[in-house]
Amino acid sequence: MANPGRRVLVASASAGGSTAEVAERIAARLRASLEVEVRPAGPAPAADLDRFDAFVVGSAVHDMAWLPPARELLQLLAPVLGERPVWLFSVAGIDPSGRVRRWLARQEVARIAQGLPRDLRPREHRAFGGVVRMDGVPLWGRLFYRLARQRAGDHRDWAAIESWADDIAAALRPAPAPATSAPAAPDPAPPRPTRRNPC
Ligand SMILES: Cc1cc2nc3c(=O)[nH]c(=O)nc-3n(C[C@H](O)[C@H](O)[C@H](O)COP(=O)(O)O)c2cc1C
Repeated sequence: MANPGRRVLVASASAGGSTAEVAERIAARLRASLEVEVRPAGPAPAADLDRFDAFVVGSAVHDMAWLPPARELLQLLAPVLGERPVWLFSVAGIDPSGRVRRWLARQEVARIAQGLPRDLRPREHRAFGGVVRMDGVPLWGRLFYRLARQRAGDHRDWAAIESWADDIAAALRPAPAPATSAPAAPDPAPPRPTRRNPC
């Protein structure tokens, strides 16, 4: 059942559409227990952002950086965020499965973070594999893919994406109210000592 107390914004920047589909899947998963709005990232007034209790922001990775609309949204979000949680996700050509690619994805996330607001403290920044197309990729990019043994194709791991969304939903679930303990029953009266007639 949706928890109307918690409203989440899922926003993403996508050039070819694969990141937008990841955002839609995350939103669909969160909707099982939360109120969710999903939309393309971009400039938004503070009053609009203020309506949400939590944020999930993602972007396609181009040239080791987030796309401008997602960076712009984070710039606006950082000063109004306060204690509200934010999760970030990157959809990249590197599918972070296997030791080498996982390491490369971590380097890429660290590099991306350098271009995001410094004062932002995301709960997590997760990298997912995206859709790799070789047409139009410059020579250095092809070499990079070859070194990473990354093939063309759709590398989105939907199970991992859904599981990540479930973790976010769990983190946003209100803590269960402390169990109200029933008033303690009075101690039963101790048995009265019986006098035995010595006769
Ligand atoms: C122009 C261009 C530059 C890219 N640069 C990178 C990059 O630096 N690192 C990376 O891992 N993937 C890179 N990619 C791959 C994309 O991140 C991947 O295809 C992603 O799924 C694109 O998301 P979108 O369909 O939402 O635009 C690049 C793709 C394009 C088209």
